[in-house]
Amino acid sequence: MTANKMWGGRFERGPAGIMEEINVSVDFDKRLADHDIAGSKAHARMLAAQGIISRTDCDAIIAGLDQIAADIAAGRFAFKRELEDIHFNIEQRLTEIAGPAGARLHTARSRNDQVATDFRLWVRDACARASAGLIELQRALVKQAEAHAATIMPGFTHLQPAQPVTFGHHCLAYVEMFARDRSRFDDASARLNESPLGAAALAGTPYPIDREATAKELGFAHPMRNSLDAVASRDFALDYLAAATITATHLSRFAEEIVLWMSPSFGFVTLSDAFTTGSSIMPQKRNPDAAELVRGKTGRILGSFVALVTVMKGLALAYAKDLQEDKEAVFSAADALDLSIAAMAGMVDDLKANADAMRRAAEAGYPTATDLADWVVSQSGKPFREAHHIAGAIVKRAEALGVSLDKVPLAEMQKIEPGITAKVYDVLTLDASVNARTSFGGTAPVRVREQVQFWRETLK
Ligand code: ARG
Repeated sequence: MTANKMWGGRFERGPAGIMEEINVSVDFDKRLADHDIAGSKAHARMLAAQGIISRTDCDAIIAGLDQIAADIAAGRFAFKRELEDIHFNIEQRLTEIAGPAGARLHTARSRNDQVATDFRLWVRDACARASAGLIELQRALVKQAEAHAATIMPGFTHLQPAQPVTFGHHCLAYVEMFARDRSRFDDASARLNESPLGAAALAGTPYPIDREATAKELGFAHPMRNSLDAVASRDFALDYLAAATITATHLSRFAEEIVLWMSPSFGFVTLSDAFTTGSSIMPQKRNPDAAELVRGKTGRILGSFVALVTVMKGLALAYAKDLQEDKEAVFSAADALDLSIAAMAGMVDDLKANADAMRRAAEAGYPTATDLADWVVSQSGKPFREAHHIAGAIVKRAEALGVSLDKVPLAEMQKIEPGITAKVYDVLTLDASVNARTSFGGTAPVRVREQVQFWRETLK
């Protein structure tokens, strides 16, 4: 075994097999290739502009990098595990293509600032992807909300029927959550948007580099102020993973609801053949696998956050190879998240609400009992607590009679509260209950339609 070509000056032999095995990262960090090439081009142009390398060398470097990018895109690039990572693979190939010019690229740079730069660029793209995917999901939800602004379903607390709400209102609750999720990705993206390039190994460099220029070319707002921080910090990746975890939590709650609603015991929604699977043994089955997988992938996404935050904890400044563990965590979470968002948008688009089943379920469980208590308060001026007791007694009576609240005979109600008149029936239906909830943010169809309008404008 010969010593490593990239740093083998003081080495006589190559690594043990197991050393290469634990050290190698090109199998996964080849995903940084495009960003690595962008970083190298910016660096080369800056070196030339500063007179650190010649124009001719710079041109040869750029042409070589373009060729490498094309080869990678076409699947013709031979990644070599003995060259450790994507950075060495590209640099080595560049030197084959461009000769000594290629070997000059790494002037005033280290793999430490290089990888920090590549990874920031990658995570910046991942934030933009998540945000864009969430917009599509929100649009699909707003469409359902518009169609079902007045479709009544049971609203639950403790998964017990509480008060009727509209399906549109329920959809818009998720639109709000996904809006906050988007803002978390946007915040993460804005915060990470400063350039580590030029921090070199950890202390900066004696070459007269122009960090503003490379930052600008790569779309960063400015260079990072501290070279140690630039190469040692990965909180930008944690920001992404935290935002991903919270998003996954929201997706998972929604997925759980779809699973429940798809169960014949609820029957609130149907997903078509496009988003369900059958059973190999039970011919009647239609399983919401996509929703289950969205729910399940939350574990992987949170797991990635826990993995990376644990890597970072107790890590002395500046760079240590532990940091190479950052990428697989983020890649795995990002793949799971992108897929989950897209699958959820597909399901929302696909799902058909079953208004009859929703209404039937809403009729069970006396969900207008609060309306009854409110009516007693408004008619009699009795304190709410007392009205609550009266309504409770009427619910008990309805239960004994086996009828819904709006079917309890007036005489029965008057036995409990003599002041009750026939006007009470105006508030006891599901529609009356929902229509009455016109407070800002409430479930009344007028309010839901206003919110749909708001989101249509906002998501334009
Ligand atoms: N593959 C390495 C990583 O992902 C690149 C940086 C290596 N730097 C070093 N000093 N060995 O972190």
